[in-house]
Amino acid sequence: MKSIAIDGPAGAGKSTLARRIAGELGYIYVDTGALYRTVALYLLRQHIDAADTDKVEAALPGIRVDIRFEEGLQQVYLNGENVSGQIRTPEVSMMASASSALPAVRRFLLEQQRELARTHDVVMDGRDIGTVVLPQANVKIFLTASAEERARRRYEELMEKGQEVTFQDVLRDMKQRDAQDESRAVAPLKPAEDAIRVDTTGDTLEQSVARMTGIIRQRLA
Ligand code: DC
Repeated sequence: MKSIAIDGPAGAGKSTLARRIAGELGYIYVDTGALYRTVALYLLRQHIDAADTDKVEAALPGIRVDIRFEEGLQQVYLNGENVSGQIRTPEVSMMASASSALPAVRRFLLEQQRELARTHDVVMDGRDIGTVVLPQANVKIFLTASAEERARRRYEELMEKGQEVTFQDVLRDMKQRDAQDESRAVAPLKPAEDAIRVDTTGDTLEQSVARMTGIIRQRLA
């Protein structure tokens, strides 16, 4: 099985690029952030604070997260309910960032991610795919862009979905999330030593796709 690991901060374009590249290579695209978001949604629904680690740990056995591929698109299920449409809110983003810092939560989702890569050719995106989940990945890419550009992309996405947010709020949340993801003790956001860094600031989507596909095809050859 072949695996491509794509890591980087929120809004760097990981999911859009990973999906396109998976399509071109005929691999499945695994969005691991969706798994953390699904756990976060459960915690929010149960009114459990991420800082209350004992309560979070006690809740984990009651959570079943399933990934299914429907018409090539990843859908996530929380205890049998398709929650794919409910995990993209700013509230869930912030809770996912906070709860994903807990070692118990990371352990809970680790084996599931590895199992997907054992059984499929994958393009997997996240924060620790190249460093922790798939250290043997065939190609590792660390994708970045300036915080302002990432916030602008996320702002446009949220506006398209009709969510009422200001650019300043999105930028502030983005910076807070970067700081949380980078500073946590377990599996922090950082490039693997053998990762190729790609900065997409100023690139159009098509330019980024072309650059990444070029790098990946060369490495896989
Ligand atoms: O990629 P995303 O924005 O959907 O991820 C949501 C949060 O989940 C992010 O703030 C950090 C966490 N996450 C993680 O810790 N490890 C991953 N492999 C993917 C996401």
